Amino acid sequence: MNIEGEEMRKPIRLIAAACSDMGIGKNGQLPWCLPKEFQFFLDTITAVSAPEKKNLLVWGRISWFSCPETVFPLANCLNLVLSRKMSAVPPHAHYLCKDFGSVIHLASKPPLCHIVETIWVLGGPEVYKESLEHPWCDLIYLTDIMADFDCNVFFPKFDRNVFRKQKGFPGVPDEIHEENGIQFQFQVFKKEA
Ligand SMILES: NC(=O)c1ccc[n+]([C@@H]2O[C@H](COP(=O)([O-])OP(=O)(O)OC[C@H]3O[C@@H](n4cnc5c(N)ncnc54)[C@H](OP(=O)(O)O)[C@@H]3O)[C@@H](O)[C@H]2O)c1
Repeated sequence: MNIEGEEMRKPIRLIAAACSDMGIGKNGQLPWCLPKEFQFFLDTITAVSAPEKKNLLVWGRISWFSCPETVFPLANCLNLVLSRKMSAVPPHAHYLCKDFGSVIHLASKPPLCHIVETIWVLGGPEVYKESLEHPWCDLIYLTDIMADFDCNVFFPKFDRNVFRKQKGFPGVPDEIHEENGIQFQFQVFKKEA
């Protein structure tokens, strides 16, 4: 493990699905219904390397409340909701933070630093943007939804010379999938050192 001063560095990873124009949401909901894509999302964020480890999931308030309650509890996960105005941790969540800096502090210092494996950033755009700029951010899992959808929320622009598209990334199928007549492909972008 890489310890910087009293901080234990944790990988920060983003996961999202975006359509042709990088749209990710419409009126607080996902614009599509792709159960296999959603299952890949769940499998990815719940994967840990040892039974005592947990992933810290970071949700913007609107994304949190738009997630179907039936997915909870999520195995191997601690749920953290970001909000400047909420005052109580909502049902199914474990933590509430007012800013991204507090998320990093919580995950990288005792006691949580001993169990947190990965900080998964689940959106929306504000926290995606902030995490993309963080030096600990190393991977973006971004499903390419190969279709046009009417969206009003978009994945932030990122530098594809810094985050390079990977081929044959472990655990991520390369082929094009199709569900409900919509094609999609899982992609991983890795930050070049
Ligand atoms: N396709 C995908 O992969 C994907 C993934 C995620 C979300 N989405 C979609 O995106 C939409 C949700 O995005 P959104 O932009 O509307 O909302 P959001 O980012 O989920 O939530 C916004 C709220 O979260 C809080 N927040 C966000 N960043 C913060 C920060 N850095 N510090 C403190 N608080 C922060 C604030 O809450 P307060 O107002 O309470 O202060 C803010 O108003 C939905 O349509 C959802 O379905 C899609």
